[in-house]
Amino acid sequence: MPALVLLGAQWGDEGKGKATDLLGGSVDYVVRYQGGNNAGHTVVVGDQKYALHLLPSGILSPECTPVIGNGVVVDPSVLFSELNGLNERGVDTSKLLISGNAHIITPYNVTVDKVTERFLGKRKIGTTGRGIGPTYADKINRVGIRIQDLYDESILTQKVEAALDGKNQLLTKVFNRRAIEVGKVVEELLSYADRLKPYVADTVLVLNRALEDDKVVLFEGGQGTLLDIDHGTYPFVTSSNPTAGGACTGAGVGPTKISRVIGILKAYTTRVGSGPFPTELFDEDGEALRRIGGERGVTTGRDRRCGWFDAVIARYATRVNGLTDFFLTKLDVLTGWEQIPVCVAYEIDGKRVEELPYSQSDFHHAKPVYETLPGWSEDITSAKSFSDLPKNAQNYVKALEEMSGAPISAIGVGPGRDETIEINSFL
Ligand code: GDP
Ligand code: IMO
Ligand code: MG
Repeated sequence: MPALVLLGAQWGDEGKGKATDLLGGSVDYVVRYQGGNNAGHTVVVGDQKYALHLLPSGILSPECTPVIGNGVVVDPSVLFSELNGLNERGVDTSKLLISGNAHIITPYNVTVDKVTERFLGKRKIGTTGRGIGPTYADKINRVGIRIQDLYDESILTQKVEAALDGKNQLLTKVFNRRAIEVGKVVEELLSYADRLKPYVADTVLVLNRALEDDKVVLFEGGQGTLLDIDHGTYPFVTSSNPTAGGACTGAGVGPTKISRVIGILKAYTTRVGSGPFPTELFDEDGEALRRIGGERGVTTGRDRRCGWFDAVIARYATRVNGLTDFFLTKLDVLTGWEQIPVCVAYEIDGKRVEELPYSQSDFHHAKPVYETLPGWSEDITSAKSFSDLPKNAQNYVKALEEMSGAPISAIGVGPGRDETIEINSFL
């Protein structure tokens, strides 16, 4: 009955796509449980590079059934272009299953996302502009459109009317935009219905039956712990729950079924968009991390903000997710630094603080307290086992493990599937 959750332990872009793809060959189902096409997961297989946004990274493993769970928000036009792109490259996507309860990102949700950000000006969140927040807001406000609504035109029309009623007031009177026509939206949404139909399934039933049958199910988080709407750096977060509990609600699987929770942890830290980031670097080290780590957003093409590893955040991720393991990624990027600072605590108003403060004002003022670890200069990209790593790289990993509160069970030493050191098996 192994059910594993794999999620981001920082602010996203930790390398979840690579980690999921790596396990994809040995699991029966890979399930996205939250978020939407705000995610950007890069997977490198041989000399082929794939950028996935909405589809679970398991789609690249032929034996695996990819599932889009009820907690995900789906933009059908993005889904189709992603499927087309994969099909053109010879990837079979016919096994995909999509929950009928998943909410649809409508064109007006994308519009509202963009105008809201413009309206916020300097206070903007720096969203991906994909309509994620407004779609989840409609879901919570009970005016969302679900995939299953596409199969009843009369219900769909009523729901779009209800959703647009208030929104059109806002768009015309506050944002000075043109009103959106119900008929046009309904027509566009209905045009997706036939192509979506073969994929739509009762995914909750499918997944629970699979677990009863001892199949291996992997839940793949989008974004990361610090972008979680409840546990992240609110309001600079996404509008869903990437943390482990989100897998239960977003896929309809009870917490008793989850056997392992793996936190994907970058050997340094990055963030995209606005919000506090204590170890952020504004000097040539930050530039070097960005350059060597290729830290540019897969979805929006924005440069990622870069900084040193933050153990306070890693400990927090262990706690709120109940992590059983870490998968440390991008260790190879740190090759060449003589000394590597690691944030072990914060200083807030002159006091040393070991854990993430619950007050956002404190977090905004947190200054990193660094310990410096000796670096290494040897190329580690072909290391296959922990003992192949230079002593200082081994010590860096051991120090991070000690500070972070869960065992590091795998280490990424390059973007490729095989550029991974397995320490403890995940299955
Ligand atoms: P995700 O959103 O968590 O899936 O991560 P992204 O795909 O947005 O960003 C991670 C980037 O790092 C991708 O370009 C990956 O190909 C790359 N990557 C993943 N693991 C490693 C690693 O261990 N070393 C290196 N050098 N790159 C990696
Ligand atoms: P993956 O899955 C990094 C960030 C955005 C913004 C905030 C809210 O690739 O790790 P949203 O469009 O979700 O309302 O934007 O969240 N964000 C991400 N940052 N990786 C992601 O996904 C992200 N998805 C959203 O930059 O700050
Ligand atoms: Mg990403």
